[in-house]
Amino acid sequence: MSKKIYLYGNWKMNMTAAETKKFFDEFAGIYKPASDLEVGVFSPFTSLWALADGAKKNGVVFGAQNVYFEPKGAFTGEVSIPMLAEIGVTHVILGHSERRHIFGESDEMIAKKTKAVLDAGMIPVLCYGETLEEREAGNTFKVMERQLKSALEGLKPEEIAKIIYAYEPVWAIGTGKSATSGQAQEVCEWSRKLIADPKVVILYGGSVKGSNAKELLSMKDIDGALVGGASLKPASFLEIYTAYKN
Ligand code: PGA
Repeated sequence: MSKKIYLYGNWKMNMTAAETKKFFDEFAGIYKPASDLEVGVFSPFTSLWALADGAKKNGVVFGAQNVYFEPKGAFTGEVSIPMLAEIGVTHVILGHSERRHIFGESDEMIAKKTKAVLDAGMIPVLCYGETLEEREAGNTFKVMERQLKSALEGLKPEEIAKIIYAYEPVWAIGTGKSATSGQAQEVCEWSRKLIADPKVVILYGGSVKGSNAKELLSMKDIDGALVGGASLKPASFLEIYTAYKN
């Protein structure tokens, strides 16, 4: 039996509501659901209603790219979990390297968000990964151990099992230069041991596209891909799965 593949698209700060609608008009024409494929799309907050509509019509998972951990109050510019729940959001990307490095999100904040999302019955897509500097200094595993342990501290085993993990080496994100399948497999295998649950879902992210999908997704400990650039067009997004299968 072939493993289930998670193909998740992180649109980042791209795609207006109108563009989201257009995306799904095109997507509907080429998407062929498969029992071993779970597609997910993560849009900016302002496009979530349009995303919910398109995703539901096509039977795909959808979510947000961030959320605040308090349910409401004086937090100007933030969006809460109940606000996402109203739209039907089930998944939230947390700890993406752009949140960590551009917006200064700490391990502590990511841990609070992870707990709040789980408490609301939603699924965190928890991102972690090292910078080039950290890799070259031989600190890859030390950095990731800190990131993962701080997010998982105090969680029950069944909560840890619900999280979807996404290893994203910062140097491979948006650079066109993916990690090699060997590098990605090494980290995902190590992560599975650290998380201490052999069944957790672990994605690889960082310049995944049709041309490198088969090699990366064939790796034993890689359950799918978190895709940035290639997820903005239905054809290049879905090509990742077809390239893996063919
Ligand atoms: P990329 O982004 O596919 O454009 O490298 C991946 C991500 O940041 O999730």
